[in-house]
Amino acid sequence: LLGCTQQAEQKEEKAQIKLVEPGYLTVGSDIAYPPFEFTDEKTGEYAGFDIDLMKEIAKRMGLEAKFVNTAWDGIIPGLLAHKYDVICSAMTITEERAKQVDFSDPYFEAKQVIITRADETDIQDVEDLNGKVVAVQQGTTGDFAAQRLKDEKGIQLEIKRFEGTPEALMAVQKGDADAAIIDNFVAYIAAKENPGLYRIVESDEFAPEYYGIAVNKDNPALLEKINEVLKEIKEDGTYDKIYNKWFGE
Ligand code: ARG
Repeated sequence: LLGCTQQAEQKEEKAQIKLVEPGYLTVGSDIAYPPFEFTDEKTGEYAGFDIDLMKEIAKRMGLEAKFVNTAWDGIIPGLLAHKYDVICSAMTITEERAKQVDFSDPYFEAKQVIITRADETDIQDVEDLNGKVVAVQQGTTGDFAAQRLKDEKGIQLEIKRFEGTPEALMAVQKGDADAAIIDNFVAYIAAKENPGLYRIVESDEFAPEYYGIAVNKDNPALLEKINEVLKEIKEDGTYDKIYNKWFGE
């Protein structure tokens, strides 16, 4: 058994969780990304898989989740500037990003797909993007994948970068772009909600990606806690419940 003073010392050594606002887990997210994060038009409330996941994580930490809607291109700087405690925004864990932020254990597997208008049948795989205009959300893994097709596969495509994914999809709809490269589940929901409008092309050229919750590197205790709670949620069936709510039949 440890003596009292020894116990107290051990406690002090353990880093404390830092929160930008006491009582809240403040979450930065680019909330225009159904089904992960979007505004429910009927209720005016934020909704989606990430929203439910973060509400559950916050609850288990004895906190309330508070969402800060943030443009994607400023989302990591916002975390570094302590505008929120974490980012949960369908953010893919990448080596580059991991230089700036810590990532939780992966919570979702995704990959890029090509989405075109339904009547654009020339595009059957990545090679067919040669000579085409491809819309992406700037600074996303869809953007990086499009750039890689140009640089590494020599496919001559023109990349049109948009601040948000809805704008990239709108460009495809309007014919300002021939295709977009975006996360698969975001493409699936767009196709489902607009029957007959889009066509989705899957390709082996796109590798699996994993979403993570980003935490400031100066807040290791928060990262540890989030991983602990995430594990709990996965083990007790809560993760599956949230998953089925958004991705079940
Ligand atoms: N998974 C992709 C990435 O990390 C796209 C995420 C975009 N998220 C959003 N809420 N717009 O680059």
